[in-house]
Amino acid sequence: MKHLRTLEDLTLEQLEKLLSLANEMDKISLKQSEPPITVANLFFEPSTRTKCSFEMAQKELGLHSLHFETNFSSVQKGETLYDTVKTLESIGVKAVVIRHPEKAYYKELENINIPIVNAGDGAGDHPSQSLLDLLTIQQEFVIFQGLHIVICGDIRHSRVARTNANILRKLGSKVSFAGPEEWMDREITKGNVISMDKAVKEADVMMMLRIQTERHDMSEGWTKEAYHEAYGLTVGREKLMKKNAVILHPAPVNRDVEIASELVECDRSRIFKQMKNGVLVRKAILAYVLNLLEVKKYERVI
Ligand code: CP
Repeated sequence: MKHLRTLEDLTLEQLEKLLSLANEMDKISLKQSEPPITVANLFFEPSTRTKCSFEMAQKELGLHSLHFETNFSSVQKGETLYDTVKTLESIGVKAVVIRHPEKAYYKELENINIPIVNAGDGAGDHPSQSLLDLLTIQQEFVIFQGLHIVICGDIRHSRVARTNANILRKLGSKVSFAGPEEWMDREITKGNVISMDKAVKEADVMMMLRIQTERHDMSEGWTKEAYHEAYGLTVGREKLMKKNAVILHPAPVNRDVEIASELVECDRSRIFKQMKNGVLVRKAILAYVLNLLEVKKYERVI
């Protein structure tokens, strides 16, 4: 059974193959299989990018998407996550994509016999986001070795920060952090915290993070203006960035908080490229967990 619960589910070789498959995804056409394969999308937390790009990926792969409305499901009657997923497995769903507020929710799904694709677990991991970030960085710089990536902002509450820091280090990048001391996470940031002013001068990639107000009270002493001035990517700081350095952000963006509004679509910004890559990466993930390249006939489109 192939899952994607964290990037630990992949060897580095498998991860590299997934990125290479994602890069090819707009050149590959997958033929419909009969009967169609159904994937269920279970989102217990709000999402725009991850949910919609998994749905786009499913459409483009000729899969059927089963929409699961948490608020109108038997979750409201107390049905557990395990029983919900077991039910979907029983009625013929072949894989589930799950976003859930609980960290490592997938541990309660160990006896499930269909692939689990983690679309974000609380402050735990966000493997598909990380893969699309890696794809975007790879398209820009080709190799990860020797790059300096600075992850900025609310590190402690961010699943994106943790997943990216771990994998980028494994791939040979130097990873530093900038942001308020109280939002650092010693487990990953210890000894690698730098100031924003140093970050913009040294980074190849400035990875800006949204303040995760759904997981803590942003007020902790900060107004939006004060935060922007102290730790935001301001117009002034952007001018100090290296010639070829780029800006990433998983989005949604809080404009004029972690990043100046006018930088969101500036020449260095790859924020919307990341979203476009999100569909390619999610197609590759679904193809990987469902073995689509083996069960479906596929062809290259020139
Ligand atoms: N980046 C990301 O996960 O966005 P959504 O919450 O909109 O899916």
